[in-house]
Amino acid sequence: MKILMISAEAVPFAKTGGLADAVSALAIALHKEGHDVRILMPRYYGIDKSKLTLLEGPMGLPGGYKEEWTAVYTAVMSGTKNLRVYFIDHEQAFGHDGVYGTADESDFHDNPYRFSILCQAAFQLCKKLSWFPDIMHAHDWSAALVPVLLRFNERRGVFAKTASVLTVHNLGYQGVYGKHNYPFLGLAWEHFYASGFEDWDKINFLKAGLTSADMLTTVSPTYASEIQGSEQGFGMDGLLRSRKDDLVGILNGVDTDVWNPSSDKKIPVQYSVKSLAKKKQNKAALQKAMGLEVNPDVPLITMVTRLAHQKGIGELFGPSYGCAYDMCTKMNVQFAVLGSGEKWCEHELLALQSKLPNLRCRIGYDDALSHLMEAGADFFLMPSRYEPCGLNQMYSLIYGTLPIVRRTGGLADTVQNYNEKTGEGTGFMFDLLTPQSIFDTVGWAVYAWYNKKEHIEQMKKRAMAQRFGWAESAQKYEELYKKALLKV
Ligand code: ADP
Ligand code: GLC
Repeated sequence: MKILMISAEAVPFAKTGGLADAVSALAIALHKEGHDVRILMPRYYGIDKSKLTLLEGPMGLPGGYKEEWTAVYTAVMSGTKNLRVYFIDHEQAFGHDGVYGTADESDFHDNPYRFSILCQAAFQLCKKLSWFPDIMHAHDWSAALVPVLLRFNERRGVFAKTASVLTVHNLGYQGVYGKHNYPFLGLAWEHFYASGFEDWDKINFLKAGLTSADMLTTVSPTYASEIQGSEQGFGMDGLLRSRKDDLVGILNGVDTDVWNPSSDKKIPVQYSVKSLAKKKQNKAALQKAMGLEVNPDVPLITMVTRLAHQKGIGELFGPSYGCAYDMCTKMNVQFAVLGSGEKWCEHELLALQSKLPNLRCRIGYDDALSHLMEAGADFFLMPSRYEPCGLNQMYSLIYGTLPIVRRTGGLADTVQNYNEKTGEGTGFMFDLLTPQSIFDTVGWAVYAWYNKKEHIEQMKKRAMAQRFGWAESAQKYEELYKKALLKV
């Protein structure tokens, strides 16, 4: 099959979260299966042009308010034979820092314009290449205009046999903007309601994509059912229920070339289930790197995360009500956090660090440290409010670091709760998101660490034996693509 992935992020070029990992890994897995997969993304200012090849000639986008002129760069994805990535170059839209925004402007005011350029470029690029995909696979709200343009403008002539798929990596971000942005999209006003763009008299990119794509997916089976309910549906649950026969949850995999404790060059000591004792050396290295007491006899809990509401940061670090302070004063533990995001939370973490010798934080984005945080820890904490899939709990399992998670979305699909009678399970889970339940569940894990050492050892081994292959997920996407094609 010929498949074009459209995404705002893809590793190694631009990443703000798991979307970037998921898009590239899925493309690579499908490429390995023999499909002609290509990725289209913006050339952000930070992506070095000199390492890319310029396609000949400018490319015009006639669809929006006025004709826009772009250039197209390309590169082959490293580690693949010839998986092509195309980059849309447009100074006004992408010639500055930030994928969706910056620290000062978290959501650029011109995002509707920026991402409509990305989406319109998908069609012009195919025409320029005379390459017409079977599937246009859009990821998240920023690419959600693609299925809409296909349905209302392009599904005739050269795209007559092209089907669209939209994957929701996070329903919490929908791309809702003022209706004055509608003319940028390249859609006639007569489609304002039918396209699904109208949302309380604003425009909603994701809603339009969910209305118009031939098939819909999300990144875990549990999240696929949760988003059809009002609690996790972010206002889209009715629409999603109406499309339930076209909605599939497919779990993300893990790229084991990058995340594998026995070959990971970003950690000081490689280890496997057979040499688990070596994990202690990584613990010592992590304690040292974070400025914690180097002590093998205290359980070390880590977190690597966007500091966002989604991740349960209020319940953990909220001034006066979060449980992190109690955790670190009432339990004999160490707690290390790597993250960046909401300013209040960054400040609160620094304030906690100044009071607590056993809590250390690193504010910022640090890929190498994120590997050590997985390899050196005993437990990994993810008290997410919702979690479409979540990658870190899977990395934790593979690294023999037991996840402590809320039972939601992909966390519920990948972690098995500890059974203290039998010692079964791969992690520790709770249902209700409150400071008290996080505190209690961490306490439960810490109790087991001190008092049920044999259970903890068995759980680590069981966790490390888990497999989260992309190949199986890629096969499920293939099935889904076939279904989408039947709709054209
Ligand atoms: P989300 O996409 O919602 O942020 P995921 O668990 O799917 O959550 O993916 C997060 C990805 O981003 C993981 O690969 C994680 O290691 C990485 N990550 C998040 N914050 C940081 C950080 N501060 N430094 C390094 N890596 C980070
Ligand atoms: C989103 C979700 C996360 C998921 C990732 C990749 O950012 O928050 O749970 O793992 O996308 O699909």
